[in-house]
This record gives sequence, C-alpha cells and structure tokens, in this order.
Amino acid sequence: MSTPVLRQIGWDLLKVTRGLRPCLRHAQTFEPLQSSSFCARSIRPPTAIRTASSKAVPTRLPNPRRLRPLPFLAAGGGIFTILFASLQPFDDPIRIAQDAASSSPSDSDGGLPRYRLAEVKQHGPKSERPWVIYEDKVYDITDWVPAHPGGEVILRAAGGSIEPYWDIFSIHKSPYVREILEQYVVGRVHPIDLKDGRPLRDHIEDPFVADPARDARMRMLTEKPCNAETPNDELAKSFLTPNEVFYVRNHMWVPVVDEAESDNHNITIELPDGESKVYSVQDLKARFQQHAVTAVLQCSGNRRNDMTRYAQKTNGLQWTVGAISCAKWEGVRLRDVLADAGLSLEDPGEDAKHVQFSGLEAYGASIPVAAALDPMGDVLLAFKMNDAVLPRDHGFPVRVIVPGHVAARCVKWVNKIVVSDEESNTTWQRRDYKCFGPNEAKQDWDKYKAIQVMPVTSAITRTRLKPSTNTESDARSGQSESAGDRVVQIEGYAYSGGGREIQRVDVSLDGGETWDQAQLIDDTNLERGSKVWCWKRWKYEVGLSTIGANKNPHGEAKATLVVKATDDAYNTQPESHKSIYNLRGNLATAWHRVDFDLAAAQHSCEEGKDQE
Ligand code: MTE
Repeated sequence: MSTPVLRQIGWDLLKVTRGLRPCLRHAQTFEPLQSSSFCARSIRPPTAIRTASSKAVPTRLPNPRRLRPLPFLAAGGGIFTILFASLQPFDDPIRIAQDAASSSPSDSDGGLPRYRLAEVKQHGPKSERPWVIYEDKVYDITDWVPAHPGGEVILRAAGGSIEPYWDIFSIHKSPYVREILEQYVVGRVHPIDLKDGRPLRDHIEDPFVADPARDARMRMLTEKPCNAETPNDELAKSFLTPNEVFYVRNHMWVPVVDEAESDNHNITIELPDGESKVYSVQDLKARFQQHAVTAVLQCSGNRRNDMTRYAQKTNGLQWTVGAISCAKWEGVRLRDVLADAGLSLEDPGEDAKHVQFSGLEAYGASIPVAAALDPMGDVLLAFKMNDAVLPRDHGFPVRVIVPGHVAARCVKWVNKIVVSDEESNTTWQRRDYKCFGPNEAKQDWDKYKAIQVMPVTSAITRTRLKPSTNTESDARSGQSESAGDRVVQIEGYAYSGGGREIQRVDVSLDGGETWDQAQLIDDTNLERGSKVWCWKRWKYEVGLSTIGANKNPHGEAKATLVVKATDDAYNTQPESHKSIYNLRGNLATAWHRVDFDLAAAQHSCEEGKDQE
C-alpha cells in the first residue's frame, strides 16, 4: 500500500478516534475492518466483571466500544496505538532549566524543553503520564495507552527509549508512523544525556534483559527474541523432550511473573454477550478438574530450511528439523472454564465463532470455537510441563495447549480469552501462518484460512553406526550378508496433526527409488489424552555396505536417505518442496532427505563415532 494511501487512512482514523476519545479510554479490544471504510460500532457492553470466586461486581469499564482497525495493520504492538492516537495536549511536563551553555535548542527544535533521562524515567509504566523517547525526542503517550490493542504492552517502553521495542515491532519504523508520533512530542532529551543523537547506551533498556538462561545444547537461531531448536540428538533420544531442550519460539521477550505471585496471575474471559469473568491461576487449580495430555508442539516453520534448499528462498527463521518437541502437559480443560464463565457448550450462539487468546507481552492468536469446545479436543490451560512447573520460556505461569494444531495457537503467558465472532486480529492469526500456492508471490491475506490442524510430516534426526552385522531389515530384504559389515541405525520422528496416528514410516536408501518400512518405537505413556496427539519415533537398521551399494549415480561416495510417513487417514507427505513452495516457507512437509556421506561413515567406523 502506498504511503499516501496509508497516510489518508491514518488521518481518517485520527478524525474518527478524536470523536471517540471518551470511549477509547475504556476500549478493550479492536477488531479488523471488513471493508476499507473505518467504523466504530457499539457492542453490548460488559455489564459486570465477575471474579471466579465472587459474585458479579460492577465493572469499571463503562460502555466500551470496539474499534475495527485495518487488517493490514493487524501487527502486534503499538502501530494501532499510534494510528488511533489523537492530538491531545499535555499538561504536566516536569520542565527543567535548559542548559543554555551546552545546547541551543531553540534554533532547531522550536524551543522544546529539555529533559534529563532521570526525569523521563519518572514517567515510567506506573506514572500517571507515561513518556517514551524516540531518538532524542520525548513523547507523552498517556492518551493513547488505553486505546492500544496490544493492551498495556506499550507501557513496557515507558520511562525510556521505545526504539528497542520498535526494533522488534519493525512495522513502526516508517516515516508515516513517525509523523503520527510527532503529535505527542513534549520535549527533547538533554544533550548531556545524548551520544550521537541517541540516549546514552547505559540508559537504554534491553527488553530481553530478564529472559531466562537457555541450555547450551539448544541450536540457537536468534537470541533476542529467543528462537532455538531442539538438537537432533535430543529429538532422537527420548519420547518426551526434556524441558531444557524443548524448542523455543518467542516473538518477543519473556514476560516476568513473580513466582511467589504466580497463583494470583489472572486470566480474563470475555463472552460475546459482553460478560467478563476473571480467574486467577489459583482459582483454576482449585476449582476445575486437572487433566494431563501428551502432545507434540510444532512450529509451522519446522523444516523451512529444507524448502529453501530444495525449492527457493523463503522468508522466516530457517528452522531445520527441530522446531518440534513432545511433552506431557497438565492443566484444566478450556471448555470447562468457558462453561463456568457462562458459555453454553451445547449452543454457544451465533456470535461465538472463535476463541481468541492474548499473551502478556502482546502476542495473540485464536482457534475456532468448535476446536475449543470439542470434548475430544483436549484443549488445556496448562500449568505443568513434563511434571514440572511450566518453564518461563514455555509460558509460566499458564499457557494454552491446542493438541494437533499448529503451535502458534498455543499462546503462552495467556492473560485474556475472548469468545468472539471474529478471529484474533493479530498478524500471527491473519497473515503469518497461511500457505499460498507456489506461484502466488502476491499474497491476498483474506483468501485463505489460517493454519490450524497440522499435516503429516517426518524427519531423520540421527544416523548412528553400530558394531554388528546382519540387521533385521537386511535379513528381510535379503541384502547385506557380508561379515564384518557395520550397521547403520537411522532414527527419526513422524507426526500428524488432528489426533491422527502415524500408521507407517517408509525409508529409502536410494533417493526414493525403492522403499522399506521403518520400525515404529512403542513409546507407551498412560496420559495421552482423547486422541493421538504425539509423535511416533522410528528406527531403521541397515548394513553400511547396503547403503554403499546405493551410492549416488554420479559416483560420489554419498547416498540419499529419504523418509516419508503416512497417517491413519492415509494422508502422506508430498514428494517435493517445489510443489508446496510458499514464500513464508510454512508447512515444509515434503519427503525428508539426508545425504549420507559414505566416506565419512567409513572414517567414523575406524574412529567409532556417530554420523548425523
Ligand atoms: N505465545 C506467546 N505469548 N508469544 C509467542 O511468541 N509463539 C507461538 C506460540 N505461543 C508465542 C506464543 C509460536 S509461533 C509457537 S511455535 C509456540 O508458542 C512455541 O512454543 P514453545 O516456545 O513453548 O515451544
């Protein structure tokens, strides 16, 4: 969209929001527009907010309205805030004497007052008038905080520079947004506190400073925010992925929730009729039956790197095979809590189409109401992971688990659940997790549905040399008989979404010309849940000389190992990434190919090492 169009829309928004100012102070949610015209519509207001342990109490939210921002702006973070901002005067700046000797501000800045960083800091998240700094200017954000669709997340930056946050929400970095922000300027940072036109480094808060330490074994893609894969060895080693090496996919920082206070962490549930009810973690633990479910979480970008390698460039983190892990989750069923909040499970009503989840930092996503209420769906609000308290990286103190669905819907640090006639308006619902055709370079975001239930996939995670001869598979296929041959054990996982069980895993040693079946490992776990939400690990043993016989036709000392899986609906994986290519590299589920280096294997035999 061109800048003039954006600008026009922005000014339209400003005009409208100025008229709505009294309501905006109490606005709770924003929904996307259906058309390009902006409108604010009244909804039935919440008449009361009830706490789970008390009767209804009068709400502090008189007559809220929902605003519908444009879908293309449905990115998490403060762009909405800025677009909805209105030109309110500021009235209480703490002015300090300008240091005339060290600067001559009036020439360049129209006489804006200068503030020391210490003074800006006083306008932190808890002050009556929060301020932020961008470059060397100071802005009073008081009046647009209540309208911020990401809730009060914008206050994270209050009292300091907003730039580290805009580095994360990079959509803000446009001249247009700057232009809007300029409406809120109240001063400049004092030159004493500036270096190269920016606040002194020591004074710029790192949003990730409180992130937890990560296990050194993780394959780190990005540290800030943390995106880290489970290492191949760990994927192969155990059915339940240990918490320390469970893959991490964070879009932002990890919110800090005081452990001692974690039982008081609240989740607000809002129903389509406007009723709200607040549950503390303690309420959830005490009042609802606890359930345990063993389920895989998988990022829609798992194996994206394969798509890039075998098709063409994809946008996004280049995950290999480790953006997937399996854990036992414990918590309460979402459907029980929604029923308690007043939603009819039998007849939720026409306005109840989606269940939206928001996390403490600003992330949000939704699932269809049918998935949330399915008695066999096992959707949880989980507090525990593999019998331990949920780790901070994985959503402490409470997260959503939607088994069989893309993990993007499993919102961590959840603090708000809204039953609505609309999907979540975030970019993570409306844009990021969709798949277009290989030819669709221009993406019409409304054309396809958001990814929910996951397709079938599999991967080779480890190849190991074992010191014995004549494997079961060799005996079956009548291949390698040679004494002294070394056995190669190929291991991996196979998984399908929607509760569909893996039926079969096919392995090829010659790039997909001939096939054999792998052995499915019998991982018994008693608390699986209503359907099969977990992966099957598999292994295949073969003599090294058999792989050698299949070496690359070009004479290279290399064989191509391939795996593909089939689930109980007989869905199977596509052969090529080219056929399923999409720019975002989502759902890269084509046959998984691994080059097996025969020369290195021979060498490893001598050394007694593994080959991955
Ligand atoms: N929830 C919040 N609040 N913030 C996030 O960044 N990432 C989502 C989902 N839930 C995310 C979130 C994505 S894209 C994935 S793949 C999973 O969390 C990853 O969960 P994990 O980090 O526990 O493995």
